Amino acid sequence: MYALQAAAAGSRLFVITDENVERAWGERILDLLGAASGGDYVLALTPGEGTKSLSKLEVCWNWLAFRGARREDVVVALGGGVVGDLAGFVAATYLRGLSLWQIPTSVLAQVDSSIGGKTAVNLEAGKNLVGSFYQPDFVVIEPGTLATLPEEEYVSGLGEVVKYCLLHGEDLLDVLEKNIDAVRVRDRQIMDDLVRRCVNYKADVVEEDEFDQGRRAVLNLGHTAAHALERTVGYGAISHGSAVALGLLVAVALSEEYLGLEAEVLTRTRRILERLGIPTTIDLPPVESMLAAATRDKKISAGGTGFVGLASLGAPVWGLNVTPARFAAALEVIRA
Ligand code: GLY
Repeated sequence: MYALQAAAAGSRLFVITDENVERAWGERILDLLGAASGGDYVLALTPGEGTKSLSKLEVCWNWLAFRGARREDVVVALGGGVVGDLAGFVAATYLRGLSLWQIPTSVLAQVDSSIGGKTAVNLEAGKNLVGSFYQPDFVVIEPGTLATLPEEEYVSGLGEVVKYCLLHGEDLLDVLEKNIDAVRVRDRQIMDDLVRRCVNYKADVVEEDEFDQGRRAVLNLGHTAAHALERTVGYGAISHGSAVALGLLVAVALSEEYLGLEAEVLTRTRRILERLGIPTTIDLPPVESMLAAATRDKKISAGGTGFVGLASLGAPVWGLNVTPARFAAALEVIRA
């Protein structure tokens, strides 16, 4: 319907995707959108984090410019988190803003990055350092597209699903636990339900705190240790979802100490991650490097505040002041 309305308004759809997604889904999705296929309106980039760069941003801007994109046209981000973040920033900035549609095709993008309007590219100095809040006008989530994801990407993306289950509470964690085998085989019905409930949770948080001034911080559960790990071991060496899974264990361990979270939650979370096939331990980089990386995290203020924990399942607390010594001690729960 949106596609028909866009066409009726004289808008053209400019689809930014990656080569893998284009191969697997391009034709069918363009067909559904009623969008023109072919080189003029589809830009398929190299898959991978390296594409979220200033140089690819320029490629996208020039592509729109040479094809005469106008203010009433639409940028469609078709793909995972990299494509969504990059194309989102393209839409936010080209001609000071074109309409943006998100069609996420990875677990991580479906449950998290396509919702809430965060767009970004990376700099040499770090990930997501340049970006904007720019809400999509339309998000289409089709969990059927998860069928073609490489196994490793699918499984690691489930780390974000576990995060949402912990944030949401006992009921959703229970759904995940009871359906782990179905989740592993990408059962359409259960993934539909899980993705929908994660999205609803996130949408509720973003509606209350679109610009990340308060409650939205809860979505960073597990991310302090995750970002530190990604920086320390290298972004190519660990996927974001796997880092988040390990980070969740660290956050849960710290929550026991700071918020009195029941010890059973750590055992339960570890067991769920193991059953999903997500590694729960790692050859830990030197703790000093992890600490240095954690304090550089843009979500931690100079005073070390900003850590997210759980008082109980479904009861996240943000703005915790975690000392470096306790952070270092909690890292032991993920040491191989
Ligand atoms: N991915 C966290 C957020 O959107 O705020």
